[in-house]
Amino acid sequence: MPQLAYVNGRILPLANASLHVEDRGTQFADAVYEVCAVLNGQILDWQPHLVRLRRNLAELGIDWGMADGPFTLQARRLIAANGHRDCIIYIQISRGTARRDHAFPGQAPANVVMTVRRFDFGQRLRQLETGIKVITRPDNRWGRVDIKTTGLLGNVLAKQAAREAGAFEAWLVSGETVREGSSTNAWIVKDGRIITHPIGTAILPGIARDSLIRLATAAQLVVEERPFTLAEALSADEAFLTSTTAPILPVVAIDGQAVADGRPGQITRRLGELVWNEVARQTGWRA
Ligand code: PDD
Repeated sequence: MPQLAYVNGRILPLANASLHVEDRGTQFADAVYEVCAVLNGQILDWQPHLVRLRRNLAELGIDWGMADGPFTLQARRLIAANGHRDCIIYIQISRGTARRDHAFPGQAPANVVMTVRRFDFGQRLRQLETGIKVITRPDNRWGRVDIKTTGLLGNVLAKQAAREAGAFEAWLVSGETVREGSSTNAWIVKDGRIITHPIGTAILPGIARDSLIRLATAAQLVVEERPFTLAEALSADEAFLTSTTAPILPVVAIDGQAVADGRPGQITRRLGELVWNEVARQTGWRA
């Protein structure tokens, strides 16, 4: 079956799916996006993703006519058409197509694109046992990274540096503070307390982050939303990261230095159970 994509209301083969060269997403990164996990054919945390998407569109003043109900049907239709039970759906909405001019165009309708690709969530369970490594990079992104725009060059360069260093992720550091990863939120555990950067303009308010805070709190674990330094991370008892595509992964080394004994920690393992139980509860997914 050929891969199928969605472009402005039409589902068509990915190879034929395209936008105009003057799409403002291409020229200005004037576009927002979401990445959602689909397990067992069910979209995980769909409602929070929709809420964040609406907020981001509102922040940028991008006018997108479609209501949540019809849009949800379109997303589900694309997933069903692609026929994957376990996949990732990418959604991108730009300010539309217009003659290049920095200021907003008058009447351009938004361009909406969705793609789906198969994803092996089982690999994330295996990585829960081994953990992953991160490096650090300076956070040189713009000042509103809470808005999930396609302007990701800082993230792209940091991730590439991680790949070249044989690491899974790059943690972005501003001054002494660890903010988040290039495509994940960053966490440490110290003396039983689970610590992550507070939301605001300096990090993306991750859906997986939010979900983990709720699950941890409900399980009587202590979560502190406060900035933490790289020195704290290096002397932490445990560290981990979260995102849609990596619901929770233990971090066992930072810049080549082992976190504690260099193995996934107890609290991270416990959180792993909570996170994957929640995935199963919402979607019925089992490894
Ligand atoms: N990335 N921080 C950044 C910079 C991100 O790009 C992401 C998500 C996250 C985690 O957010 P969430 O839990 O909502 O996935 C944090 C997605 C997966 C991506 O760009 O592919």
